[in-house]
Amino acid sequence: MDMLELIKSRRSTRKFLSRPVEEEKIDAIIEAGRYAPSGGNNQSCHFVVVEDGEKLNELAELVQREFSGMEYDAHTYASLVTSIQRSKQGNYTFHYHAPLLIIVTNQKGYGNAVADSACAIENMMLMANGLDLGSCWINQLRWLDENAALRTFLKNFQIGEAETVCGSVAIGYADTEDGLPPRTPLRRKGNSVTWIR
Ligand SMILES: Cc1cc2nc3c(=O)[nH]c(=O)nc-3n(C[C@H](O)[C@H](O)[C@H](O)COP(=O)(O)O)c2cc1C
Repeated sequence: MDMLELIKSRRSTRKFLSRPVEEEKIDAIIEAGRYAPSGGNNQSCHFVVVEDGEKLNELAELVQREFSGMEYDAHTYASLVTSIQRSKQGNYTFHYHAPLLIIVTNQKGYGNAVADSACAIENMMLMANGLDLGSCWINQLRWLDENAALRTFLKNFQIGEAETVCGSVAIGYADTEDGLPPRTPLRRKGNSVTWIR
């Protein structure tokens, strides 16, 4: 795949096989994330690679529990409303049962924390696509960044109080007929371009 095709064919996967991802593929994905650019060459992202299925289940239960206790109104971000509603119904698994979740944190108070982490996450999603793996940005841990129960749990993952959770990415083999991730590009409806020539 050439570079533009790799970028255009990256789509979010939301149905994964339980098949574990090979260690060499995980290593390549992490390498792609670590080689992302960063403001001032700060390189302060922290990649927490969660392969432990039991820990992932515990985390998913915690996320559901915390969202189920939240309220929402007409101004609440639509995706957050969906997470809350599904958690209240008791059928919410925020990471779509992916066998691998990479959480990206950065230093609390650092102005480029999310920007740097986003560069790293996109690099990892592109690498995953290049390796025929599905991926999806998962933002629920970002939304719960200041949630006390989550912060306590994250200590198990060596995520300390000085770190802010910027995002995470679910990765695994896609549960599709051909085993490949969905790759049909979405039509562009926005992202306008102005040429000054
Ligand atoms: C900052 C950000 C947060 C996102 N959060 C989630 C999420 O929590 N759960 C999810 O299923 N998808 C999430 N997505 C994926 C978007 O929904 C998806 O990229 C978008 O609908 C376009 O579809 P595509 O990725 O297939 O091109 C997120 C994407 C970004 C860039």
